[in-house]
Amino acid sequence: MNKRKVVVSIGGSVLVPGDDDATYIKGLASMIREASNEAQLVIVCGGGKISRYYSEAGRELGGTVSQLDMLGIGVTRVNAALLALALGDLSSMDVPLTAEDAASRSASDNVVVMGGTAPGHTTDAVAAMVAKHLNADLVVNATSVDAVYSDDPRKVPGAKRFSRLTIKELGEIVYKEHGAGSSGVFDPLGVKIAEENRIDIVIVDGRDLSELRNAILGKEVEGTFVNSH
Ligand code: UTP
Repeated sequence: MNKRKVVVSIGGSVLVPGDDDATYIKGLASMIREASNEAQLVIVCGGGKISRYYSEAGRELGGTVSQLDMLGIGVTRVNAALLALALGDLSSMDVPLTAEDAASRSASDNVVVMGGTAPGHTTDAVAAMVAKHLNADLVVNATSVDAVYSDDPRKVPGAKRFSRLTIKELGEIVYKEHGAGSSGVFDPLGVKIAEENRIDIVIVDGRDLSELRNAILGKEVEGTFVNSH
């Protein structure tokens, strides 16, 4: 059977918020195991608040931007190893260090789990890079917001919620966010790679496992579908 190829970018704040994380990860691993019957999956894990903690400590120690990025990458890889552990024989704790290696190790009978690769971008961009090398159908961004909004809904009460966007429209939103220096809904470099390679993106609340499952399997979601075609 020809499985759809899907790369999932899961935020550290979703994977390890620091509140009974093993229970969520156990449920996530079981959903991934089931979804992997229908989809060939690569999961890219973010760093979350632990990476921010290291980054702040490193900054106080006089670290350069690139050195702080390297601390962040280390944490994303530890998070990836934790999810790989939960996936048992389906995955490997020996996480790939590059997008190319992740794509070449990916197969229809495994789930490749990884973290970051090199300084200068985030794990969303890594997910888009892997999708490009793998010729994947879709990138799913499992994040801590439930959809893309025109403005931060916590600050702007009338913010518009989008159920569908074109990749150009997402680009305009993330460049605007990036300029303001806030943590955006998707890394602008990842949007650029997805646009150039015609990879669709679905943005969903990663704590809602049925929503995440629907996104992976290409079903209707409550979140935002971004069309790159
Ligand atoms: P994340 O991908 O978790 O970044 O990587 P983020 O922006 O904090 O998370 P989200 O997308 O808002 O959830 C954590 C940090 O690790 C470094 C960066 O410093 C990033 O901020 N990193 C990560 C890299 O330098 N390269 C990578 O490939 C991945």
